[in-house]
Amino acid sequence: MDTPLAVRARGITKCFGDVVALDGIDLDVAQGQIHGLVGPNGAGKTTLLGLLLGLAVADSGTLEILGTPVGRALTGPDAVAGFVDGPGLYPSLTAKQNLAALAVLRGGDAKTARIDDVLDEVGLTDVGDDRVRGFSLGMRQRLGLAAALLTKPRLLVLDEPSNGLDPAGKQHVHRVLTRLADDGTSVVLSSHRMDDLEALCSEVTIVATGRVVFSGPLSKLATENQELDYRIRTSDSEAARRLAADVAGIRVVDGQDTEVLVVSAPVPALDELVARLVQAGVAVRELAPVVSPLEAAFLALTEQQESNQ
Ligand SMILES: Nc1ncnc2c1ncn2[C@@H]1O[C@H](COP(=O)(O)OP(=O)(O)O)[C@@H](O)[C@H]1O
Ligand SMILES: [Mg+2]
Repeated sequence: MDTPLAVRARGITKCFGDVVALDGIDLDVAQGQIHGLVGPNGAGKTTLLGLLLGLAVADSGTLEILGTPVGRALTGPDAVAGFVDGPGLYPSLTAKQNLAALAVLRGGDAKTARIDDVLDEVGLTDVGDDRVRGFSLGMRQRLGLAAALLTKPRLLVLDEPSNGLDPAGKQHVHRVLTRLADDGTSVVLSSHRMDDLEALCSEVTIVATGRVVFSGPLSKLATENQELDYRIRTSDSEAARRLAADVAGIRVVDGQDTEVLVVSAPVPALDELVARLVQAGVAVRELAPVVSPLEAAFLALTEQQESNQ
């Protein structure tokens, strides 16, 4: 491999008393990649991100960050930045004062720190002189991101950064992260929602109860042979139901008394149904998966893991 991975974790375990928070986690994050860590509440996301930030130490396993085994000094103290469980901020200070204090805490100089630049990047210039006490959760998240950017980190670790963001705020954060990744910064961010990560991440690692249940490109997750529930609205629901019952591989889930038929089917069987509907002169007015293919794959994988416990 030419360039070292930003994160290389093998067999990471971490327990809190009797609770096994991480149970043999492997994670690879390439340089310049935005990698999504996704899983239900309690899956172990925050614990794992805390290890990447050096806030805690794993019980066993190996962890290399930016090519250096954890425990040895990284190439620079500012190489990794981010937050878990929400950014730590002083409520009685303004946004700018918070950033200045953080710059000094990290051994920098408040006067020369890129405070105005990072505020602008996250879209908080207008509220730079307002006290953080009055900030919404979304504004705090963006200020946390600004703080992480003060040092131009090579690895950025963000725990549920989309929490509390409105659609405009989300877009803003997405733009910042995409630009950073284009410049070579690696980003690991967590979410409990799959749809959150679709727009941003090329690769995801899905964790459930401390184990990896999927890792790889999003395109591999939603494969065509997956069987999903689809809603089909037609011009003649009676005929549609009859035709659906005749196609091999299709199971009618719902649609006894409604215009909308819900069927469970793999894609080829669904294609066959649509062809037969059109042939029979029945118009297809709407056809969509009940939940997105990615969300469905996520739910299937994480529920499976939980029922194995
Ligand atoms: N400091 C801690 N003390 C005790 N248990 C903890 C601690 N941190 C996390 N846990 C437990 O470890 C598991 C994983 O938690 P966490 O990493 O916060 O999950 P997530 O961020 O995916 O919601 C949970 O069962 C949680 O209760
Ligand atoms: Mg968490």
